[in-house]
Formats: sequence, structure tokens, C-alpha cells
Amino acid sequence: MGRHLLVTGGCGFIGSNFVRFVLTHRPDWSVTNLDCLSYSGNLENLADLEGDARYEFVRGDIRDRELVEKLVERCDAVVHFAAESHVDRSIMDSRPFVETNVLGTQTLLEAARKHVGEGGGGKRFVHVSTDEVYGSLPLDRPDLKFTEATPLHTNSPYSASKAGSDLLVGAYHHTFGLDAVITRCSNNFGPYQFPEKVIPLFVTNLIEGKKVPLYGDGKNVRDWLHVDDHCEAVLTVLEKGRSGEVYNIGGNNERSNLELTHAILQIMGKGSQMIQPVADRLGHDRRYAIDASKIRRELGWAPTRSAWPRALEQTVQWYVKNTRWWQRVKSGEYRRYYEQQYGKR
Ligand code: NAD
Ligand code: DAU
Repeated sequence: MGRHLLVTGGCGFIGSNFVRFVLTHRPDWSVTNLDCLSYSGNLENLADLEGDARYEFVRGDIRDRELVEKLVERCDAVVHFAAESHVDRSIMDSRPFVETNVLGTQTLLEAARKHVGEGGGGKRFVHVSTDEVYGSLPLDRPDLKFTEATPLHTNSPYSASKAGSDLLVGAYHHTFGLDAVITRCSNNFGPYQFPEKVIPLFVTNLIEGKKVPLYGDGKNVRDWLHVDDHCEAVLTVLEKGRSGEVYNIGGNNERSNLELTHAILQIMGKGSQMIQPVADRLGHDRRYAIDASKIRRELGWAPTRSAWPRALEQTVQWYVKNTRWWQRVKSGEYRRYYEQQYGKR
């Protein structure tokens, strides 16, 4: 029988891809999407689902206790994506990060706790977290990767707030027996990513004839995963993950920012004069690399859609084709943010 999911943050980048992924691959399931439509939430990301009886959108805040209790009551499982997600914004102002990522998660957990029976369990709670909670790896130790046993060591207000939420999820599993699972994924790329993040920012700047602001020496390394691979991994954890466990998710696809930038320039037929070196991000983590052997071994998941350069080319083409989508996004609040972030660098 079909399941009914409460997805939080379903109007954002990964959440919207996940809602579409679930309804495509589990046609008898239904989804309620709770999203407050913050600056990065966009109803257009799921416009194709309007009128689909399996899909319901509720505009609301994950910190709204009454609303959250009502929605958790009606669902079989919660998949929690909603968050303040951008490191640079957390450096400008960390408060919304604590409010949404920590307090919002606590509100959801409290609502879920009410359904835990005597022997534990209740509604499955999948908490979507990030590899950034593990901190930073050195460039000269390619043998090192983050495993689920790597101690938390957060460096940005964003990652600190995500780690806070992870710890709360662990505590609700341990103390109340909540059926909770945590995923920690590396950097995602794909359609509908808000153009403050490096790939859509660089691609859309180049389409607009603007330079791309590369932080510091460009040697920082990220492990890139296509968003559909992430969605498939989250669905796998929802269905098969062991309660109380953490699962790392990664692409085994490490690239320096310089390598990424040159790949984008090449795909778009632009030269390296379009790179604008700018002052580094404060506290900039040097390298992320995920060891995803646990999810492969235990649940049989491995990425199949992230291979470069093809997956990157397809993503660049999506932004080239969907100019209307990002041109509307790159207006209003975005312009103010861009000026504050890059104006004086
Ligand atoms: P995003 O910023 O694109 O989307 C966040 C969504 O959450 C938006 O739709 C926003 O409106 C909603 N939201 C924010 N605050 C809310 C609140 N208080 N109540 C209800 N809705 C709220 O972010 P994303 O990149 O899609 O990331 C989604 C999740 O995945 C986050 O938890 C993030 O930490 C995690 N994650 C992201 C990446 C990545 O590369 N983008 C990698 C690993 C993990
Ligand atoms: O690792 C998972 C994380 O990946 C997620 O938890 C975060 O939500 C997501 O935002 C992302 O964090 P990053 O900080 O790695 O992503 P971002 O796209 O902001 O930056 C990627 C790299 O590119 C990073 O080393 C900084 C660099 N960069 C970024 C921007 C926006 C630049 O050089 N110039 C830029 O203008």
C-alpha cells in the first residue's frame, strides 16, 4: 500500500527534486510538502505537479508547533530537508540558521515523538544532513575521507547549526526510541539549484556575460554528486536504513574549485579571463571527501548519475535552457544579497 510522506523544504533545490523523484518511482505514494517559501523556496520548482492528486503543498514554517503536529499526525514518515543552507549567508548572519536548523528540527522531532509507542518506533524520521558537519580534510592526505565514525568538527555557523540538529535527532532516537535515521551528503549539483551556490552562480553569470568570483586560491576540493543520486539514496535510507544509524552519501567525485571552474568555462566556450579571483570565504573548509561504503555495503546504493563530464554538461545545459527560471530568481532579494556578498571583494 502507498505511503504518505511529509517532506519539509520541498520547494528548495534538493527537496523539489526529491518530491518529483518519489512520485515518479513510487507512483502509489503521496506527499505533503511543508515549506515556508524562504528566499530559496520556489513554487515553480514543482509547477509540473500542480493538479496531481498525490501531491499537496502547505505553506508554513517548521517552527510552527501546531501546524507541524497536525501534519506529522497525518503522515507515515517525515523526510526533513528544510534548512537555511548557504554557508556565506551563515557568515553574514547566523541567527536564522539556529532558528530554522536547530529549533525547526526540534519542533519536528517533538511532534514525531508523540507517535512513539512503548517499545520505540513510531513514524520514520529521515533527517537530511551534510558532510560539512565533519569539518575539513587536508589537501595532502588524499587517503583520508569522512566516515560515519569521523568526529563532528564544525567550522561555519551553517555546519554548526546542522550538527546541532543531527545531535538532537540522535538524542530523540536514544532517549525516546524515535525511529530516526540521519544522512550526510556531499555537494549536490543539478536542476533547480538556487544560483547562490557555486555551479548555478558561475553558469548563470557566464550566460549574463559576467565574470565568475572564485574564492581564494581555488584549490578547495568538493565531492560532487548529482541531485538525483542523492534523492535515490535518501529514498533507499527511508525504506531500508537501520534505525538510529547515520549514512554518508557521496559521489566519489572530488574536484578542486579551479578544476570545476575550468570545466564549466570549457563547456560554455569561455576563456579563463572570465575568472575573477576574490577574497577567500572566512573559515573556508579546504576539502570534503565522503566514504560512502556503508550505504553501498548495507543498503546496496551507489551513484549512477554523477559521472563527469557528462553529468556536469547536462546540468549546464539545463540552466542554458531554463533562463526564465533563474532570471526570475536572480532579482529582488538576490540582487541585494549579491551586492553585499561580492560588492567589495
Ligand atoms: P535550499 O536552500 O535550496 O532549500 C531549502 C528549503 O527549505 C527552501 O524551499 C526553503 O523555503 C525551505 N525552508 C527554509 N526554512 C524553512 C522553515 N523555517 N520552514 C519551512 N521551510 C523552510 O537547500 P538545499 O540545497 O535543497 O538543501 C536541502 C537540505 O539538504 C538542507 O537540509 C541541507 O543542509 C542539505 N544538504 C544540502 C546539500 C547541497 O549540496 N545543497 C548537500 C548535503 C546536504
Ligand atoms: O558539502 C555539502 C554542502 O555543500 C551543503 O551542506 C551546503 O548546503 C551546500 O551549500 C554546499 O556547501 P559549499 O559551501 O561547499 O557550497 P558552495 O556552492 O557555496 O561552494 C562550493 C565551493 O565553491 C566552496 O569551496 C566555495 C567556492 N565558491 C563558492 C561561491 C558561492 C567560490 O569559489 N565562489 C563563490 O562565489
